[in-house]
Amino acid sequence: MPDTGTAPNNGIGFIDGDYMPFSELRLPITDLGFQLSDMCYDALHVRDGKFFRFDDHMDRWDRSISERRFDTLGYDRDQTKNILNDCVRHSDLRDAMVYLIATRGTPTDPLKDLRTCKNRFIAWAVPYYNVVTEQEMKDGCDVIISDVVRIPTESVDPTVKNFGRLDFCAALFEAYEKDARYAVLVDQDGNITEGRGWNIFALFGGRLLSPESGVLEGITRRTVLELCDRLNIEGELAPIPAADLKNADEIFLSSTAGGLMPVRKIDGKTVGSSVPGPVTQRLTDLYWEIHDDPAYSTPVDYTASSND
Ligand SMILES: Cc1ncc(COP(=O)(O)O)c(C=O)c1O
Repeated sequence: MPDTGTAPNNGIGFIDGDYMPFSELRLPITDLGFQLSDMCYDALHVRDGKFFRFDDHMDRWDRSISERRFDTLGYDRDQTKNILNDCVRHSDLRDAMVYLIATRGTPTDPLKDLRTCKNRFIAWAVPYYNVVTEQEMKDGCDVIISDVVRIPTESVDPTVKNFGRLDFCAALFEAYEKDARYAVLVDQDGNITEGRGWNIFALFGGRLLSPESGVLEGITRRTVLELCDRLNIEGELAPIPAADLKNADEIFLSSTAGGLMPVRKIDGKTVGSSVPGPVTQRLTDLYWEIHDDPAYSTPVDYTASSND
């Protein structure tokens, strides 16, 4: 068990085979994960001592590392799951955000041939957080529709979760200039895509839509669509032209870090008549309820292992 100093609940990380306090994780600047954003990642959460949709996150992770050719990470699926479990166990957190990251690593030849890199695996567990503030969880977020076009899917596959995010950065500065904190980007056809850290849903006269392509296939997005079936809400993936978004009856963002997060204003225009809207509220309630359902959850093993 690593020495977590005086702040054990700041979290525990894992890098290059060792567990350590989260605050001590470091990446060499020679790692091409830093230099080229040649990396991919996943983020899942633990609620009340249970991983939410652990295997669904692992399926997405396995597909990401295979598509991005991270062949030399050195940990198979079971070993990876054990490391994630142990980050949570060592940090002794009951509610946590858990990250797993693959970076290309450091090349060993002068031409920086990608094939000479030993891939690096990094993981951590930190206390659970939302991607918006507590106040915004209650009052709603102000979001702009940015003029920035999301990096085309033909260039970078958005279904592989990654930190290549200069499009989001440009859009966020546009939002700050317009007195908002969040931005949703459009695609080359003028349809809504996603923002940094979330998918988006919009309700139009009883139909709840989320962009069908050009976005990360969020685990929260998938969960919301499953919950729509249970609640007899018509929920589906479909293109949402940017011009239509301002006419939505309700809008919310979806992310592992926060769940369902209501939107108050879009481009300065108030959305609907209450925040959160009634459909958003029903889905939010059921979303947190199913965290206790064994079909969606895997208990963290908090007992010490023989490796401690
Ligand atoms: C770009 C992007 N879209 C969507 C999401 C939401 O995905 P999930 O629901 O799996 O957390 C995230 C999460 O970090 C994200 O980074």
